[in-house]
Amino acid sequence: MEKISVFGTGYLGATHAAGMAELGHEVVGVDVDEEKIERLRQGEVPFFEPGLPELLTKHVESGRLRFTTDAAEAADHADVHFIGVGTPQKPGENAADMRFVDSVIETLAPLMARPGVILGKSTVPVGTAQRLAKRVRELAPVGDQAELGWNPEFLREGFAVEDTLRPDRLVLGVDHHNPGTVETVARSVYAPIIEAGTPFLVTDLATSELVKVSANAFLATKISFINAVAEICEVTGADVNQLADAIGFDDRIGRKFLGAGIGFGGGCLPKDIRAFQARAEELGVGRALGFLREIDDVNLRRRVHVVDLAREAVGGDLKDAKVAVLGAAFKPNSDDIRDSPALDVAGKLHLAGAAVQVFDPQAMENAKKVWPTLEYTSSIEDAVRGANVVVVATEWAQFREADPHVLAGLAAHPHVIDARNCLDVETWRAAGWTYQGLGRHATAG
Ligand code: UDX
Repeated sequence: MEKISVFGTGYLGATHAAGMAELGHEVVGVDVDEEKIERLRQGEVPFFEPGLPELLTKHVESGRLRFTTDAAEAADHADVHFIGVGTPQKPGENAADMRFVDSVIETLAPLMARPGVILGKSTVPVGTAQRLAKRVRELAPVGDQAELGWNPEFLREGFAVEDTLRPDRLVLGVDHHNPGTVETVARSVYAPIIEAGTPFLVTDLATSELVKVSANAFLATKISFINAVAEICEVTGADVNQLADAIGFDDRIGRKFLGAGIGFGGGCLPKDIRAFQARAEELGVGRALGFLREIDDVNLRRRVHVVDLAREAVGGDLKDAKVAVLGAAFKPNSDDIRDSPALDVAGKLHLAGAAVQVFDPQAMENAKKVWPTLEYTSSIEDAVRGANVVVVATEWAQFREADPHVLAGLAAHPHVIDARNCLDVETWRAAGWTYQGLGRHATAG
């Protein structure tokens, strides 16, 4: 059993803290946000993440997990400190904003009065860990006995608990010049996961930082690849879903992340590919990642394309048209609307003059804060009622399972744009809908 602190209690930090308690450790979660900490103390998770409220409550009750805003309390309690704060895109720039990570180091390191290990989990530009390791040694009263390693996190929203407790792999970056105790400590923290056979890769600091951004850049590339092919399908009458199935059988390619639609969003993929490019430029090797700009462009173009399809569907002018947008979250099983393609499309339709009626099973409260001028309905039916065109923008099971016969009776014109290619084409067409998928003209007719 280790004594652990986790700085940052957002999606990553809160899940990691609860996960570490589940592994048997004594954990304190730390955040500067008083209100968030108070809610977590009550066992309440301030965002939608399946399975997390149960795990959190279990360990708040067991006493293995507590929360504080007091960094000194955490420094006093723990020998292992995780950093799980955000590294968002800098306003007006492509680079990552490092102020939250830096602030944890500046606060925590001076409090390290006995030997301890800091393990960074946040996604950071390559070179950061080396810089922080030096800073920690400078600031900590114990000097060299305050060590830092990098332990990137690969969790997906919606599967965060599963990904924390049963990850595909664990990656640990250590400073090869000062390896110290980082590896031993990390092996002890993750002992049950390692014993279960999970690959545990020990690398240098730079590699560990690059593993994370490379993984996300690869995933983004896969999605934009299929979306670029979808553009070709659209002008040739081919079907991108069948194409993805066919190439996906080649296990060198694989079918995952070949879901064509309105593309990727969320708190990671978009900002990570931009920060990766910005860092490559700083390092003088910007050309190496020049293709990521194209990946970003393909992705953003899909959103504009959906708006164009909606405009065509209502006869060329969105002014006064009623559009139902089903979905606001960046993906299903999440209430996260950060860089959400669905909400972006809803906003663009609104700015083009349409009356937009949005429904999402979880993300409406968050969406309202960003787009208060859209109309939010309390059901799929209310969103579709009177609509000239319906856009399915997030592939929630609730939308896939909705009865197209009932919805056809409510819409002013039964025209659906399946921007996630998630509906059953034949059922919807049989119910009287004009169906348009993305990159699927052949089957959609
Ligand atoms: C991602 C990475 O998967 C995860 O490993 C990393 O730690 C954080 O970033 P997440 O942002 O939770 O996780 O979402 P993910 O499931 O990867 O989906 C990202 C976006 O891509 C979503 O908007 C999703 O709708 C979109 N997507 C995904 C597609 O458009 N097509 C696909 O085939 C798959």
